[in-house]
Amino acid sequence: MATIGARVEGQPQSLSAVHPVVRWVNEVAALTTPDAVYWCDGSEAENSRLCQLLVDAGTFIRLNPDLRPNSFLARSDPSDVARVEDRTFICSEKEEDAGPTNNWRDPAEMRETLNGLFRGSMRGRTMYVIPFSMGPVGSPIGRLGIEITDSPYVVVNMRIMTRMGESALAEIVKKGDFVPAIHSVGKPLAPGEKDVVWPCDPDTKYIVHYPETREIWSFGSGYGGNALLGKKCYALRIASVIARDEGWLAEHMLIIKVTAPDGRVKHMAGAFPSACGKTNLAMLEPTIPGWKVETIGDDICWMKFGDDGRLHAINPEAGFFGVLPGTSMSTNANAIRTLYANCIYTNCALTDDGDVWWEGLTKVPPAHLIDWTGKDWTPGGDKLAAHANARFTAPAAQDPAISPDWEDPAGVPIDAIMFGGRRSTTVPLVRESFDWEHGVFLGSIMSSEMTAAAVGTIGKLRFDPFAMLPFCGYNMADYWGHWLQIGRKAGAVLPRIYLVNWFRKNAEGKFMWPGFGDNSRVIEWIFGRCSGEDDAVATPIGLLPAPGALDTGGLAISDADLSALLSVDPAAWVDEAAAIEEHYARFGSKLPTALAARLERMKQGLASA
Ligand code: OXD
Ligand code: MN
Repeated sequence: MATIGARVEGQPQSLSAVHPVVRWVNEVAALTTPDAVYWCDGSEAENSRLCQLLVDAGTFIRLNPDLRPNSFLARSDPSDVARVEDRTFICSEKEEDAGPTNNWRDPAEMRETLNGLFRGSMRGRTMYVIPFSMGPVGSPIGRLGIEITDSPYVVVNMRIMTRMGESALAEIVKKGDFVPAIHSVGKPLAPGEKDVVWPCDPDTKYIVHYPETREIWSFGSGYGGNALLGKKCYALRIASVIARDEGWLAEHMLIIKVTAPDGRVKHMAGAFPSACGKTNLAMLEPTIPGWKVETIGDDICWMKFGDDGRLHAINPEAGFFGVLPGTSMSTNANAIRTLYANCIYTNCALTDDGDVWWEGLTKVPPAHLIDWTGKDWTPGGDKLAAHANARFTAPAAQDPAISPDWEDPAGVPIDAIMFGGRRSTTVPLVRESFDWEHGVFLGSIMSSEMTAAAVGTIGKLRFDPFAMLPFCGYNMADYWGHWLQIGRKAGAVLPRIYLVNWFRKNAEGKFMWPGFGDNSRVIEWIFGRCSGEDDAVATPIGLLPAPGALDTGGLAISDADLSALLSVDPAAWVDEAAAIEEHYARFGSKLPTALAARLERMKQGLASA
């Protein structure tokens, strides 16, 4: 057994030295050689202590308690501001199991590299042990994990984002099953060395997944999805592999409960790439009278078949890690209301009275701010006050639109699934798939203009199938095969599938569709279709709303824009089909034949349109 020289605190008495969890923790400590090992209990007292420690270290600035009680601002190192997709690896035994859309490395080689990097990487720091549950503790759809980290910032974020601490550990001990996730900021401290405000390794980052052994190792970054390992690493990359093996779905989707004016209820899930408005849609306030939308989740959805043959979904998270820029009372009032207290803000600006600000919060910026890099900022220059990927970490329970069912361990039955990307051209406002298989085709051909959520070229168009491009833990073509398989399950009562696009622009470069609360109009049409009401017209690319079926009453939208939003431009779609063909070609013989056939059918339809 590994021996550790570190001081150990908080380890439950009930866990003996030979318990597998303790042995694993000790092994990690023996490798990383922290000064102390601390087992988190998830209590309020522990959280207050760690927040104060972060304030004392200069990582946290306590915000004005009269304006934002119990809330903090953190500023990251400028090299560590977003997910690093090019440093994210799927280390399956065989390269073809990672597929052409993932970075693959041989697992044995990667283990050697990581052993080198993690050896002594926590020197001078405390190693925190965070037991957590994705989903309500004990949910038959939920699962368990333990993150080990040398970042107290990660601990306090994980406490908001997951059910963390004592109850999760008790469940882990009971079930004997958890995903191990190891994280180090990669900045060991020499004796007497003063720490920096945001420790990280600016040059070396590895976000590594071993799908066969279901392990996560993350080195060098302290930011968001790179470091809060329950989120993208576990709940999507590792969980997608587990879901494939066990016959369920782990998806990058929001979940909402929609109530019609007559009281009928439907639940919808929606896959959109990062920073394309999932949080806004999850908290939407309908502009059409009598309709209600409530939040179940804003980012991740785990769906399993129930005894009724329907897919039942839980939100495995307990908090929101949302994009701040653009969030305001007019774009997402419920998000603003959620942020009243108990939140962590990362990389936004600080006002002179100790509050936070980001672009879009108010039309007129304050006359003076401290920007996300800690420098004085006044309006009129070309620098942003908040980073474009500035984020809030907020408890989901604080969302005034949270559904009373959001923590139902059995999940909610899903009636409709939306896919959507950010497309300024070609793609109509909404279309319904002809059937499940065609829905999988629509998910597989989703594309979107890139955002600041990942390091890369903003605005660049890329295929982002099912909004899972950066998050699928195995070969994307096999993932499509898995979705097709789900549709063939005997007795399945499947959701209908839609593809939406709120982001179409006209010749003047203006958005044609108002978006935000007015997206409820599209939701109303989907609701009607799921209830056997509302008309659609068949086109080569899917079923579009029949003339007049979409409620556009009271919208200031020109006839030309409306008709462009709800029609198919065959010439543009011939180009789109050529791009899809290239996209599919990357998957070679792994591409499911059903999808190649759907593309052929679409092309034939366009040729005769
Ligand atoms: C997120 C993302 O943080 O998708 O949810 O980047
Ligand atoms: Mn996301």
